[in-house]
Amino acid sequence: MSILFEPLKIGKMEVKNRFVRSATIENMAKDNGEVTNELVKLHRTLAKGEVGLIIPGYMYIHPLGQAFKHQTGIYNDDLIPGLKKIVDIIHEEDGKVAFQIVHAGLQTFNRLIGTTPMGPSGDIINPISIDYSREMTEEDIQESIEAFIKAARRAVETGADAVQLHAAHGYLINQFLSPFYNCRQDDWGGSDEKRFRYLKEIITKTKKILPADIPLLIKLNANDYTPTEGITPPLATKYSEWLVKLGIDAIEISCGSSTYAVFNMCRGKVPVKEIVQFVPDYLKTMTEQIYQDMVGKYDFEEAYNLEAAKMIKPVMGDVPLILVGGLRNKAAMEEIIKNKYANFISMSRPFIREPFLVKNIKEGKQEAAACISCNRCLAAIPNDYPLRCYTKKFPEEKKSTTYFQE
Ligand SMILES: Cc1cc2nc3c(=O)[nH]c(=O)nc-3n(C[C@H](O)[C@H](O)[C@H](O)COP(=O)(O)O)c2cc1C
Ligand code: SF4
Repeated sequence: MSILFEPLKIGKMEVKNRFVRSATIENMAKDNGEVTNELVKLHRTLAKGEVGLIIPGYMYIHPLGQAFKHQTGIYNDDLIPGLKKIVDIIHEEDGKVAFQIVHAGLQTFNRLIGTTPMGPSGDIINPISIDYSREMTEEDIQESIEAFIKAARRAVETGADAVQLHAAHGYLINQFLSPFYNCRQDDWGGSDEKRFRYLKEIITKTKKILPADIPLLIKLNANDYTPTEGITPPLATKYSEWLVKLGIDAIEISCGSSTYAVFNMCRGKVPVKEIVQFVPDYLKTMTEQIYQDMVGKYDFEEAYNLEAAKMIKPVMGDVPLILVGGLRNKAAMEEIIKNKYANFISMSRPFIREPFLVKNIKEGKQEAAACISCNRCLAAIPNDYPLRCYTKKFPEEKKSTTYFQE
């Protein structure tokens, strides 16, 4: 049997194979973040496809931390019964589930959250919304930390097997960790130790409320690829060492962000027309120019975060490393696991196109994912379309004006 199908534990949670569905926003929740039947159905299919660990799309922990209109919410106890349906359906199909919790920080839209997006520092532009951030006060910081703890407690109440902190892709925790976004000179910034403090407080407090059998995972950027230096592999290595000391149970290594470095995060084609579709008329020409300039610069590469993972893994001891980003071929995946560069293979886009990929690999029916990294599924999200593979046809009707003043 392939090494990809050997079970492995993350903390006390046993995962039946080495495949992880990396968190992928489904864009299927109601306007208030509540789970829909469509969303539950998607997770039943993924679990039937035998993905060992399923991480549903990122869930916002606070109304001010919402990133997209149809994102799933975990900011309120009323949302627990819906979230529990996702957990139950995955368990019914013998899968494991980790909830990824997030605060978008400055990486959201004034129009969506009804106020100026906040981050560790003020006056940082979000290049997509063209909104400038507001600097978080001490009260904002404490409230957001508390919101993470409460969201983790809700995840436990749903019966989820694990919790994953989203500290990657330019969202709030990433913003605190990064010298690009975090220009503070108080106790929350000014040195690597101080930039790490926000995450440290979240982990320390979350671990206190998590039962011993519920592991705490993190998704971390090894490379921010921001206009000036953010997280780089050496800094991610330092952070990983500290995370292990704090008792983190697994680290998923990723890169890029949803705004400054979206095609670093999702290497492949740049779907210019589909992205331009979601912005209002007054921004179309500028947006088209910006994305047209990116064409051809982010061509797909197999396992594009592997070199960073090789640097980080040695400081992690026995803590599993989950690798994401461009994993497509069974042979390459086996090499990565055999060489212990990573312990789990995590994928996002391949499962959008082929939820049965793992089962097919197991049964010898498939050797590689069919996803061609056209990134139309990614462009569908701000257009408010539900998550699916749009490579054959991208809908053209305008769905909403959620994100901009027209
Ligand atoms: C449509 C779409 C939605 C995504 N949503 C999330 C998300 O909710 N949380 C997250 O951490 N990453 C998200 N990502 C990033 C993926 O989890 C993953 O890190 C990235 O796509 C690279 O992996 P891949 O090459 O297997 O697609 C998303 C990616 C896509 C394409
Ligand atoms: S639209 Fe389909 S083929 Fe294109 S990147 Fe997404 S999943 Fe892959």
